[in-house]
Amino acid sequence: MSTEPEKLLVVEDLTTTFATPGGPLPAVGGISFNINKNETLGIVGESGSGKTVLSRTIMGLQPRTNVTVTGSVLLNGHQIVGASENEKRKYWGIDVAMVFQDPMTSLNPVMRIGKQIDESLRVRLGMSREAAKARAIELLELVGIPSPERRYSAYPGQLSGGMRQRVVIAIALACSPKLLMADEPTTGLDVTIQAQILNLIDELKERLHMSVILVTHDLGVVATRTSRIIVMYAGRIVEIGDTREVFTNHRMPYTRALLESSPKVTNPSHTRLIAIPGRPPNLMKLSAGCSFAPRCAYATERCHQERPELQSSGAPGHFFACWNPLPASQGAPTS
Ligand SMILES: Nc1ncnc2c1ncn2[C@@H]1O[C@H](COP(=O)(O)OP(=O)(O)O)[C@@H](O)[C@H]1O
Ligand SMILES: [Mg+2]
Repeated sequence: MSTEPEKLLVVEDLTTTFATPGGPLPAVGGISFNINKNETLGIVGESGSGKTVLSRTIMGLQPRTNVTVTGSVLLNGHQIVGASENEKRKYWGIDVAMVFQDPMTSLNPVMRIGKQIDESLRVRLGMSREAAKARAIELLELVGIPSPERRYSAYPGQLSGGMRQRVVIAIALACSPKLLMADEPTTGLDVTIQAQILNLIDELKERLHMSVILVTHDLGVVATRTSRIIVMYAGRIVEIGDTREVFTNHRMPYTRALLESSPKVTNPSHTRLIAIPGRPPNLMKLSAGCSFAPRCAYATERCHQERPELQSSGAPGHFFACWNPLPASQGAPTS
């Protein structure tokens, strides 16, 4: 008897298009994937590939005025696309919470950090002042902040960058979300602190039975911390699969280019980095073909003409979008 793992998040054909003075800008162009309970999924891609817009769209956080979202985001059974602000407020914090790149933009600089955690607990969970304070101190302790009682009364500016990001994580965890979305949570922090924050997220995921989406431009970050990876380019998924499969048997030349341009986790100082030639495409002028074709050493005529859809590599759950893929590392090479 086989039991289907429960899907916490099911995203189907999701698009996010901004109306800009220059015309429609398709930042997310038809994305489908899902996440199981207690899974960590990595989303990687160069800057501008649509990772943040995708994350915010999943949260239902896009500005209402100049954006059109189509498709479906089922989060713990709730439809996010088209949901009212009131409905989404019921899910935020409880079903999903987000940690953004820059802790200073998520924290109010003139409010003591304890109060910022309390607020969420009192408003969202209806806790009393005393109960909220006790829980806030517990949360500060949970995210590894030393002397939490003392830090409860500190202002964000009195903490280091790493400690501030721990506070942001504490706020995200306040209502015990089922899914934690971390968008470049360690970019800008020094390497040692980065590892500490990533280890903390890992630890909390196990302890609190959460699922995690780890968004990063750095493949080193997702190599050891995710079970599956989505590789994004120009607002689309160009490769998706088990982390091991994507690292060892990627078929999309863009994935290879990303790997070659990322410091190796095992030997960061001795890796020669190869920058990906060319620049990410102008999303308002996407060609009918593969968006990566103009930068791809393997591109053929067809790549410039016709967009490749995701196809199976043969390995379970591994898909890539490429007309002229890299040969499989085992088995018969294609084309
Ligand atoms: N509010 C907005 N209005 C118009 N374009 C936007 C807006 N937000 C993001 N974009 C565009 O969407 C694309 C994807 O951006 P983003 O998701 O931030 O990339 P990433 O997080 O992968 O670096 C970029 O071309 C960016 O300029
Ligand atoms: Mg981003």
